[in-house]
Amino acid sequence: MSNLPPKEFMPKHVGLIMDGNGRWARERGLDRSAGHAEGAKVMKRIMDYGHDIGLSAMTFYAFSTENWKRPQHEVDVLMDLFKDYLKEADETKYEREKRGFYLRVIGDISALPLELQLLAKSVQLVMKDKSAMVVNLAINYGGQQEITRACRQIAEEVKKGKLSPKDITEETIESHLYTAGLPAPDLIIRPSGELRLSNFLTWQSAYSELWFDNIAWPDFTPDDLDRAIMDYAKRDRRFGGLSEKDH
Ligand code: IPE
Ligand code: IPE
Ligand code: MG
Repeated sequence: MSNLPPKEFMPKHVGLIMDGNGRWARERGLDRSAGHAEGAKVMKRIMDYGHDIGLSAMTFYAFSTENWKRPQHEVDVLMDLFKDYLKEADETKYEREKRGFYLRVIGDISALPLELQLLAKSVQLVMKDKSAMVVNLAINYGGQQEITRACRQIAEEVKKGKLSPKDITEETIESHLYTAGLPAPDLIIRPSGELRLSNFLTWQSAYSELWFDNIAWPDFTPDDLDRAIMDYAKRDRRFGGLSEKDH
């Protein structure tokens, strides 16, 4: 039985940094790849649960622009897991659409193996139902890369005379991010004990509520998501203004 706040206190968009797979495996005497495989299962479970509880968007951080520094074997294991997941997601995309959720892959997919690039494009259906949930899977995603890419695209528009520098606003930049059209994440969850964002949603997280916990991602359950959401619901989001009680 879920334990959640009333609808008006629910976050709309939740970001999740799926960290701690390696440590989870090491604690069990397993190879790091076993941790990643378990982490992928947990992602599916949490995605379905997020849909059940009515979130409008979820963004899962699966592979950062910095994760290429890992040993080649580990990178290969991760790419294979993404391939397996996206294959399954591609085969079930119409069924998922009927259930009211749309998958997107965000990040610089041009650096991914070709098969993954094709799958990443194929899983994305045009969104017909605006009330459906959007799930972003962030692969080769980096907030700094995303902002740099937006600047480059905007500079091209200026160069072509389509845009004047004085008309560049925060909205212009937002419209060039991978998350264009989605609300900023209300809540960002990072398990694994690290207290940092590691280049996740750098622009979008300006006013996100952050939730950290020592649990490793493969141990993360729907109850943990409830717990994070209950904590979130108690936060006083001021956005630079004053609290209700100070008015
Ligand atoms: C997260 O788990 C998966 C990726 C970053 C791709 P880690 O592999 O970072 O796990 P730890 O941090 O080593 O435990
Ligand atoms: C962040 O985890 C990236 C993902 C979970 C995909 P890392 O394990 O790469 O982050 P750092 O290196 O501890 O900051
Ligand atoms: Mg890590």
